[in-house]
Amino acid sequence: MGKLERVCISIPSDLLAEFDDAIMKMGYPNRSKAVQDAMKSFLAEFKELKALSGEASGAIIMLYVHRKPGLVQELLEIQHEHDELIVATMHVHLTEEECLEVITVRGDVARIRSLANALRTRKGVRALKVVIV
Ligand code: NI
Repeated sequence: MGKLERVCISIPSDLLAEFDDAIMKMGYPNRSKAVQDAMKSFLAEFKELKALSGEASGAIIMLYVHRKPGLVQELLEIQHEHDELIVATMHVHLTEEECLEVITVRGDVARIRSLANALRTRKGVRALKVVIV
């Protein structure tokens, strides 16, 4: 392991509580080790998608909070900017607060990656998964 860095980050308290509960059940000795492992998983997913090239088909599954001001408009703009990829979308009003969207895609992997990253980095998007088949 290289030099250690201390960082200070903001995390919603409900997310932190859920994370703490999960890592305790998994037997992690502390948060630091669990966060390091979570970061490694995040990077592995990023690298896996980055290593792909050419044409592909798949789906982007996204969970977001629809009441966040401007978010729905922003997500729509991003999808329209990638309209050549999108085959179909399915929108589910999951709860009073959350929407689940499945965006089926077909086309250039670099563009699929661009679409997924543009969506996932918006505040209010709680989860996003890319599945390439
Ligand atoms: Ni909805």
